[in-house]
Amino acid sequence: MKTLIWNGSPRKNGSTAYLISELEQALNGEVRVVDVYREAIGPCLDCRACWKEPGCIRQDAMREIYSEIIACDNIVIASPVYYSELTGPMLSALSRLQMFYAARRFLKQELVPKPKRGAVILCGGGEGSAETAEKTACCLLRQMKADPKHVILSLRTDQIESWKDSAAIAQIHALAAEWNQ
Ligand SMILES: Cc1cc2nc3c(=O)[nH]c(=O)nc-3n(C[C@H](O)[C@H](O)[C@H](O)COP(=O)(O)O)c2cc1C
Repeated sequence: MKTLIWNGSPRKNGSTAYLISELEQALNGEVRVVDVYREAIGPCLDCRACWKEPGCIRQDAMREIYSEIIACDNIVIASPVYYSELTGPMLSALSRLQMFYAARRFLKQELVPKPKRGAVILCGGGEGSAETAEKTACCLLRQMKADPKHVILSLRTDQIESWKDSAAIAQIHALAAEWNQ
């Protein structure tokens, strides 16, 4: 079993990183974490080359990550909520999923033949609601042909960091148990 986890937090030891590491330790098989603040992933430039030929012409870390998206069994989008959205670098990196959309829409090609299981993990500790971030994450999971069945929220990190959020931790373990079956 291969799991790809997108980490949208800049904090190495923050709430999102904690829940990712809990999941990583509980999951069987291979786990690859894409750290969007540290990987060299440029944004989609809307050059529209992918409207004419399948795939993205940009030469950066996404080349390898596209193969991992196609091959994996599970995909997780894990991010802090910033102004009610996923973080900027997460949105920037995931804008590169546009080529999957363009292949379906203009070239009638499905570049991700294998359906995947999907999950969203969001951490927040402010006033902006997580609703928009959740909708965006679910939409982006669908672009990777992952079914966003699980949404795990830890939304009071200003009072309880995720490592003390027993409800969120229990949901992480339940997710791993389901995927490990
Ligand atoms: C620029 C910025 C914007 C934020 N906007 C929100 C928000 O709209 N809603 C919310 O609940 N928390 C918001 N927060 C709080 C973070 O989501 C919260 O601290 C989160 O737990 C950070 O996760 P991390 O420790 O994994 O990086 C914001 C934080 C920053 C730095």
